Amino acid sequence: MFQSLQPLPPDPILGLSATFKADSNPEKVDLGIGVYKDEHGNTPIMKAVKLAEESLLKSQTTKSYVGPTGAIGYNETIARMVLGDTLLDSLGKRRLTIQTPGGCGGLRLAADFIAKANADTTIWVSNPTWANHKPLLGSAGLKFNQYPYYDYLTHSLDFEGMLACLKQVPEGDLVLLHGCCHNPSGADLNPEQWLQVRDAAIEKKFTVFIDLAYQGMGTGLEEDVYGVRLLAESLPELIVVSSCSKNFGLYRERTGAVTLICESAKSCATSSTLLAAAARANYSMPPDHGAAIVQLIMNTPDLREIWDDELNEVRNRINRLRSLFVQRLRAASIEQDFSFIENEKGMFSFLGVNENQIKVLIEKYSIYLVNSSRINIASINDSNIDYLISSLKEVLDS
Ligand SMILES: Cc1ncc(COP(=O)(O)O)c(C=O)c1O
Repeated sequence: MFQSLQPLPPDPILGLSATFKADSNPEKVDLGIGVYKDEHGNTPIMKAVKLAEESLLKSQTTKSYVGPTGAIGYNETIARMVLGDTLLDSLGKRRLTIQTPGGCGGLRLAADFIAKANADTTIWVSNPTWANHKPLLGSAGLKFNQYPYYDYLTHSLDFEGMLACLKQVPEGDLVLLHGCCHNPSGADLNPEQWLQVRDAAIEKKFTVFIDLAYQGMGTGLEEDVYGVRLLAESLPELIVVSSCSKNFGLYRERTGAVTLICESAKSCATSSTLLAAAARANYSMPPDHGAAIVQLIMNTPDLREIWDDELNEVRNRINRLRSLFVQRLRAASIEQDFSFIENEKGMFSFLGVNENQIKVLIEKYSIYLVNSSRINIASINDSNIDYLISSLKEVLDS
């Protein structure tokens, strides 16, 4: 039966990564990769994570299953991190959180849950959005539509277009927002814009679904969830999918969560049975290791302090690099204005170069980026910035 299968085209980001690895140019730079890189180009294990792992190794007494909804302590920890103490207490039984295999597992589970609630609903995603949103959410059979988000000409959020579109979203549809550090654009909503989105959701009665993959990577752990908390306190229903891949560096440990806010405690209890059934049908139980690490770090003051410092350093480094990159581009007298990169948040921004220029950057200079021109700011470091700037200058001036 497998004879009839046709191969799929390679994933553009993974394909790029493979070509980068095979490139023998010692000056090669990978701007396409989606993980954090430190000054030395590594994706390190955080110190707090290592310490938590050592402690867990000594204290864990079983490897028995954790159950479809994961560890209660981890779920409460994530809910507290995302929503904060006050809101969490006031939501009481209108809120539930379940552990998932990473943010992707959470998105997939949420999609199954949404399909059970209303198979005919449409999910409105930002134009552009993270490339994996459609495969993950679409696999549950959900339909998509797009709202304007990023204006490639002005290199900024097209909030007017976005809001006008949201005001046309039919009742019962879902609107997917990025909680912070929009991937791929780095352009985020400001507090005033979040308020207007909240008002549109109330007026038009659409359900908001937030993908929160980068809490703490933009402005701060609390600041980055301004929008999530605003919506959580004012909307009757909300779906939040969060991930610990980036902020704890736990990528391969697959550590995430789905948090639901429901209209009533009864609806929450019903929803929890559906989420648990969806988990059971997809993967049965989530993996434990990453969740146990997060739970331990967040509830052990010494570890928490170490992690806070490390996360601050990651965020500050990205923001420093944003400024440095813009400064260096300006100092090289490159005509194109890149100042927008300094105002964007998280790991990604569109460089705003065209596909021909990208082709030359890859083929002639071994500087790798995807066709959309999304770059990972954290890939820039002291060793490659001179080469990066001089290559960009040659390509952009030619
Ligand atoms: C926007 C967005 N959502 C969700 C995820 C999910 O990440 P993970 O499944 O590794 O937790 C990512 C990871 O790159 C992301 O960029």
